[in-house]
Amino acid sequence: MTSRPPSVPVPDTETAALAAAVSRRRNFAIISHPDAGKTTLTEKLLLYGGAIQQAGAVKAKGEQRKVTSDWMELEKQRGISITSTVLQFDYAGSTINLLDTPGHQDFSEDTYRTLAAADNAVMLVDAAKGLEPQTRKLFEVCRMRRIPIFTFINKMDRPGREPLELIDEIEQELGLACWPVNWPIGSGDRFRGVIDRRSQDLLLFERAERGRQSLERRLAPSDPGRSERVEAELLELASEELELVEGAGAELDLERVHAGELSPVFFGSAMTNFGVRPFLDAFLELAQPPVARESDQGPVDPLRPEFSGFVFKLQANMDPRHRDRVAFVRVCSGRFEKDMSVRHARSGRTIRLSRPQKLFGQDREVVEDAYPGDVIGLNNPGMFAIGDTLYTGARVEYEGIPCFSPEIFAWLRNPNPSAFKSFRKGVNELREEGAVQVLYDTDPSKRDPILAAVGQLQLEVVQYRLENEYGVTSRLEPLEFSLARWVSGGWPALERVGRLFNCKTVRDAWDRPVLLFRNDWNLHQLQEDHPELELHGVAPVV
Ligand code: G4P
Repeated sequence: MTSRPPSVPVPDTETAALAAAVSRRRNFAIISHPDAGKTTLTEKLLLYGGAIQQAGAVKAKGEQRKVTSDWMELEKQRGISITSTVLQFDYAGSTINLLDTPGHQDFSEDTYRTLAAADNAVMLVDAAKGLEPQTRKLFEVCRMRRIPIFTFINKMDRPGREPLELIDEIEQELGLACWPVNWPIGSGDRFRGVIDRRSQDLLLFERAERGRQSLERRLAPSDPGRSERVEAELLELASEELELVEGAGAELDLERVHAGELSPVFFGSAMTNFGVRPFLDAFLELAQPPVARESDQGPVDPLRPEFSGFVFKLQANMDPRHRDRVAFVRVCSGRFEKDMSVRHARSGRTIRLSRPQKLFGQDREVVEDAYPGDVIGLNNPGMFAIGDTLYTGARVEYEGIPCFSPEIFAWLRNPNPSAFKSFRKGVNELREEGAVQVLYDTDPSKRDPILAAVGQLQLEVVQYRLENEYGVTSRLEPLEFSLARWVSGGWPALERVGRLFNCKTVRDAWDRPVLLFRNDWNLHQLQEDHPELELHGVAPVV
């Protein structure tokens, strides 16, 4: 038992060690649309941390990808990566936790939930494509949580859109003010590097032979070599554009950055490894260390000496030999130690955490300790649910993680009535675990559940797991809805407005009404007809 009664003072050395560990830590997730270069950027970042030895190690392809479980088998069939992992590496005196969000088009609620564990986000944008749908959705989740956003505009080595236009798009469409930390000189074939806005140094990109890393050369404003190394017209244009940006007047106000209102912006090329190190250095300087988190006791400081954390993701069946489940816990306060006994807030039970794991890609190692901002994997004998709090010392319970707006809906049919019990058990357990949202018809004679998901993959995973873990086959019947809205005031509010058109009313697992719409047009129609109804895309936390 490592927790101590609140009355026993914490030795100063432990307090100092905790404070040092917290101030050293930076934790972030990358938000992007598939193909923007997330895997490539992750790989380059890890190379700097010495966490991997060679590029290509993150995204092992083809034969290289080992099939380690049934679960992986599903990934392999789909050729995608389902398991989101946490990558920890040290760089320049900092410990960095990269919470990897699944990047495929078929992303799931897990992608959103990972953001609940992140203190910072890096928004990766393809310079040729600008903002794309998945990035916008993930950005909205960051905005809800007021997470600081760092923008990396990637693929500058390829012909892309005008930098001013890209900045304008982010500012106008996301309502996010930008502060370019560097400015590109040329683009595509004529991409020469960037101007570092704060030092006014030129950071020049020198293409290396195929297959080798590009080089970066830094030239101070006083360096006479500047005009020889870059075409005057490109430099002039970049300087003029930067002046325009500076004329806009905003300052690099860290408070605004940390409130998620102002985004430091970087230009670079992950593939050629240009601008990645300057980005990482500036990120470490500007990003926020692990911050206080809201709980039923008010904000909990990471320096609270007792351990606390919450479950933000459950992963089932990663290892077929054990059919185990892993609960991913984000440490929020204090020091976590192996073999610690902690309280599980929801059940009030005490549990000993004897096999905590740190996950790196598909490898696992046992962790001895962990600090705020870190993520640990706990074997989950079925008692953990998304949002659960674990703590030592005085009772604390963190705010839950909301249900994110589903976009795909389908009846889940059970073709075999004699398997009803297993079917219901499986559906309930998978829902509790957060694998999928479950809705029901308001007509009690229609007992089959409606699965509601953020991505198609979630539905397939549910069917796969029902068969493999509960021994029941199932059939999906897609429903033609694409939007769900929860209603403030619940059933009484709905009764007051009377009969509704253009939508279907269903109930969620907590018996709250949910309205399903086929499209935006139907939603707007209902809002026009009933402005008194207050609708929410994200379910209030239960
Ligand atoms: P994702 O994880 O966001 O889906 O993207 P990923 O890193 O897999 O990158 C998608 C494609 O974009 C890859 O090409 C990758 O090489 C390329 N890419 C990433 N960053 C840059 C960049 O800075 N410049 C250029 N020109 N290309 C970039 P691919 O052909 O799909 O795959 P691969 O065969 O290169 O791995």
